[in-house]
Amino acid sequence: TAFPIRNICCIGAGYVGGPTMAVIADRCPQIQVNVVDLNEARIAAWNDLDLSKLPVYEPGLDAVVDRARGRNLTFSTQVDAAIAAADMVFISVNTPTKTKGLGAGQASDLRWVEACARQVAQSAQGHTIVVEKSTLPVRTAEVVRSILEAAQRQAVDGELPISFSVLSNPEFLAEGTAIRDLESPDRVLIGGENPVAIQSLAEIYGHWVPVEKILLTNLWSSELSKLTANAFLAQRISSINSVAALCEHTGADVREVARAIGSDSRIGSKFLEAGPGFGGSCFQKDILNLVYLCRHFGLPDVADYWENVVALNTWQQHRISRLVVQKLFGTVTGKRLALLGFAFKADTNDTREAPAIRIAHDLLEEGAQLAIYDPKVDPQQIAFDLQLAASSPPDVQAGPTRAALSGEGTWWSGTSVADTVAGADAALILTEWHEFRQLDWVALAPLMRQPAWVFDARAVVDPEAVKSSGLMLWRVGDGAV
Ligand code: UDX
Ligand code: UDX
Ligand code: ADP
Repeated sequence: TAFPIRNICCIGAGYVGGPTMAVIADRCPQIQVNVVDLNEARIAAWNDLDLSKLPVYEPGLDAVVDRARGRNLTFSTQVDAAIAAADMVFISVNTPTKTKGLGAGQASDLRWVEACARQVAQSAQGHTIVVEKSTLPVRTAEVVRSILEAAQRQAVDGELPISFSVLSNPEFLAEGTAIRDLESPDRVLIGGENPVAIQSLAEIYGHWVPVEKILLTNLWSSELSKLTANAFLAQRISSINSVAALCEHTGADVREVARAIGSDSRIGSKFLEAGPGFGGSCFQKDILNLVYLCRHFGLPDVADYWENVVALNTWQQHRISRLVVQKLFGTVTGKRLALLGFAFKADTNDTREAPAIRIAHDLLEEGAQLAIYDPKVDPQQIAFDLQLAASSPPDVQAGPTRAALSGEGTWWSGTSVADTVAGADAALILTEWHEFRQLDWVALAPLMRQPAWVFDARAVVDPEAVKSSGLMLWRVGDGAV
């Protein structure tokens, strides 16, 4: 038996809450879904009639929002009213790594989750199922539950009793493929103690997910599964990147190695692409969370084991910037370098923890002049991430600017690949955008200052095409070029 859900509230209209709720509303037209957020600009963007202005870029999201918005999907800043109307509240707010205080740099900052729990405690009516959707450290449900339990009450003078059940329902969607991952997930995981609440949530997913893919477990296993899944995925990337470095010294090609090991069914072929290191809002944060938990529970060796996955990732990013400097005769001061791609992966406008940030930082530190082009990232976001305002693009014909001669690192935003590489000594490909796979290097090469390099950190270019254009090539994990 399930508790019938007619009205859902989702707190947090970000990369997770927005797409997830859009798909639930699309697949369950009988359920009213209200997404709320404190950020007015973000809500206004979700309500924009121009679907290209949605705050999250995801292939296919515009069509889903278009079908459900105004029918049974709303976006607003009316948090309390939406909670009061809801039978089920999803908490999908940000949980960044703490920057100060106890656990700084590792533990998650739960202040937004706690604020949400308190707001739900205050505004909920009747029985409410509260679902943790944000990635959270293990045992957060307990925090949420104790706040909610303190607000439970019996029926008093005609008013309804107030009660809660807490579920953990981690989201496994990857950015760039969010809609596909939500519409046909490998699995949906629901953790909880109250079988009626679990069944109520399972029935929602049951509208489009086959029942054998809906896994039911306890709260703690559910929370820990999310951290573990991300830790394992990140570990594969650090493993292949470590092998890539070795390949570059030995004449092996990491793609050949990946193909050979990936054919072993115990290893599998996915997630073995060497690159500039992983980015995104989850991998580093979740591993650091795991590290913090292990230390907290007296398992320092386990903590060290996982911490090394992050350390290797940071090393890979610095390794690439170092290598660029070395190949450009040991100095990039005053040199123009084209950065192609800034998002942490293709098909998203998200730059959280993007490898491009650290690499750009290193190069700015060396005094480089960076032209940065990304088809989806807003230049204001780049300025925010680099903590440096953009300069105006220099006149390519006019030679080095005063800033360049003084050795100060600067950057500007390119509007196309061609104007980004113009006058540059090197092009660095940092995101695997489709358009970077098809570049006409023979046409681009004459725009660059010779001798010029292509540093392909995503292995997207055709090595022969680059070499025939006369450019020099470095490709991640390729000992043969
Ligand atoms: C990840 C998980 O995949 C998802 O299940 C979870 O819900 C959230 O975290 P996401 O961060 O959106 O999703 O993207 P993902 O595709 O996993 O990529 C993460 C990073 O790893 C990117 O920077 C990507 O470029 C990099 N990566 C991925 C590689 O370098 N090589 C690979 O083979 C795969
Ligand atoms: C291994 C490789 O599997 C094989 O491809 C290679 O050619 C030789 O090394 P082997 O050592 O014979 O084969 O056995 P394997 O089944 O891989 O097990 C190795 C060890 O890992 C065993 O001690 C096994 O108990 C342990 N193991 C394996 C686990 O603890 N957990 C697992 O999930 C799998
Ligand atoms: P994620 O990738 O986990 O979705 P985001 O940062 O994209 O993370 O989105 C989280 C959203 O949650 C932000 O838009 C933020 O404004 C919102 N938020 C945080 N705290 C609250 C709160 N107490 N009430 C409503 N919205 C909140």
